[in-house]
Amino acid sequence: MCGIVGYTGNRKVIPVLLEGLRRLEYRGYDSAGLVYQYQDALVKFRAAGKLVHLEQTVDEHIGEEAYTGLGHTRWATHGAPTQDNAHPHSDCTGELVVVHNGIIENYGKLKQGLVADGHRFSSETDTEVLAHLIEKYLKDDLVTAVRKALARVEGSYALGVMWLKDPGRLVAARNQSPLVMGVDTDACYLASDIPALLPYTKKVIFLDDHELAVLEKGVYTIMGVESGQEISKEIKTIHWNAAMAEKAGYKHFMLKEIYEQPQAILNTVSGRIIPDTGKIDLPEIGLSDEDINKIERIALVACGTSWHAALVAKYWIEKWAGIPVDVDIASEFRYRRLLLHNRVLTVSISQSGETADTLAGIRLAASLGSRVVTICNVVGSTMTREADGVIYTHAGPEIGVASTKAFTSQLSALFLFTLYLGQVRQTIEQDMLKELGTALIDVAALIDTTLPVMQEQIREMIEEYYDAKDFLFIGRGLNFPIALEGALKLKEISYIHAEGYAAGELKHGPIALIDKDMPVMALVPQDSVYQKTISNVEEIRARQGRLLLIGTLGDEHLIKLTDDVLYLPRVHEELNPLLYTIPAQLLSYEIANRRGCDVDQPRNLAKSVTVE
Ligand code: F6R
Repeated sequence: MCGIVGYTGNRKVIPVLLEGLRRLEYRGYDSAGLVYQYQDALVKFRAAGKLVHLEQTVDEHIGEEAYTGLGHTRWATHGAPTQDNAHPHSDCTGELVVVHNGIIENYGKLKQGLVADGHRFSSETDTEVLAHLIEKYLKDDLVTAVRKALARVEGSYALGVMWLKDPGRLVAARNQSPLVMGVDTDACYLASDIPALLPYTKKVIFLDDHELAVLEKGVYTIMGVESGQEISKEIKTIHWNAAMAEKAGYKHFMLKEIYEQPQAILNTVSGRIIPDTGKIDLPEIGLSDEDINKIERIALVACGTSWHAALVAKYWIEKWAGIPVDVDIASEFRYRRLLLHNRVLTVSISQSGETADTLAGIRLAASLGSRVVTICNVVGSTMTREADGVIYTHAGPEIGVASTKAFTSQLSALFLFTLYLGQVRQTIEQDMLKELGTALIDVAALIDTTLPVMQEQIREMIEEYYDAKDFLFIGRGLNFPIALEGALKLKEISYIHAEGYAAGELKHGPIALIDKDMPVMALVPQDSVYQKTISNVEEIRARQGRLLLIGTLGDEHLIKLTDDVLYLPRVHEELNPLLYTIPAQLLSYEIANRRGCDVDQPRNLAKSVTVE
């Protein structure tokens, strides 16, 4: 949450900062600001609302001969999203500025002391405390002052600092909030996430907790915040390109990312299923066959959409690998008594690899002796660095706040993981391994060919539903988590209240909600629980619920139950969750678009939730 950018080099800084902020706007869009050094002053602009407001304010200065600066896009935690609370924040002199992502937990106490010392505050944010605290310790060395200030700070931070009296230099530091540096021969960059760097450099350094960096034109130093000892860090090469983080002619990132799913699935599978034998190869998993054979239980930990992927995986792993699986929402996992030990494998699932609760969850699991594998989309993210093993989803950058292609890629990675467990533990016959692996590849092709038709049909269907006040999604077995995911997607981008239920659970309460105004999307593929789901659909029909059925091509029965049926091709039953997710995503997208909602930047949300 919140996006930080920084630059020092030979380019004019304002366009670099604005481009970086545009690429990070998915992290927060309540307000934005930037600061740069121009002649002998720091020039600061801030604006409430989306980045476009800042762009308008800065417009006439765009070509200014300024070469060092910082920018910020905010997701408000402390203080309303006003201009005064927008970053950068300054000290009393206005000569020192700070941008920050995270939460300074002891800011109240620190502020009291600083006010007593005579410091004047002009915002309600926790961040402003950092500016004044650094000012308090600042004599002639910015790095020393930042280190002394951070020694008093409790909480999480990724921060960028600039001081007028130290021209051409940026100081950055990190604790529990992501921060990555981009390096080039004549420049250094700073960003909360990789997309901001893609137009300029592929060479990056991920800062770790308690590290501080000093950035100058093409030169940098990294040291421990506490020790001040220099640290040598590996430069990593990023394989994404700038175009991957553009809309490519689509109206929204979300729609583009829905359409990218077949490729994202194939990229995730690529090289991991050996075509002739069906053998699964996951070299980066970090576990030997012996480790896998010793696993007694698997704990899956994730948040939001990634948690829904975990729920699907429980069905798969228990069925095919015979290992008991617990699935936890990370914010619950981290605060309950965990019965973990070295024969329990913990698997985190995260698009960003930076979600604060999930990260805390795996740290806790590791401290209890559990091995940790992470399924993650962002190369080099914190979770991938801390886990014992990684299974990357190769979905490419996901910019739309509502997760789509990351989800189906996570499902693909989790399916591969299941097959791998079954292969090592010999719970899946060789022929079946091959059949299931092939079915996964086939589903990508089927999604590809049916997507445009699905979108067309759903666009017509939603005319009846787009102004609904509530919505239910139901499914059984593997499709129950997809019902949850459908409801989450609809809630977050269209603001319609929606709930997902296991179809068999309706009669235990929620069926009381059914009347002629309640739309229900029911996922009814012809699978092993088909008849049971149909009975639940009949119960809704008997109470005049407005049914929207998603089922298997050729199932004539469905059209007798309602006019609104969307037929999908038959795929291997195990892979239904990947296919049935697509209409749920499209329904949400089309409804939100029809209602005029801001699809890519829904209110109150931000991608990459790096606060608790
Ligand atoms: C919903 C959505 C969120 C994320 C959740 C976890 O569309 O995107 O629910 O799934 O915040 O994020 P990651 O996967 O980055 O840990």
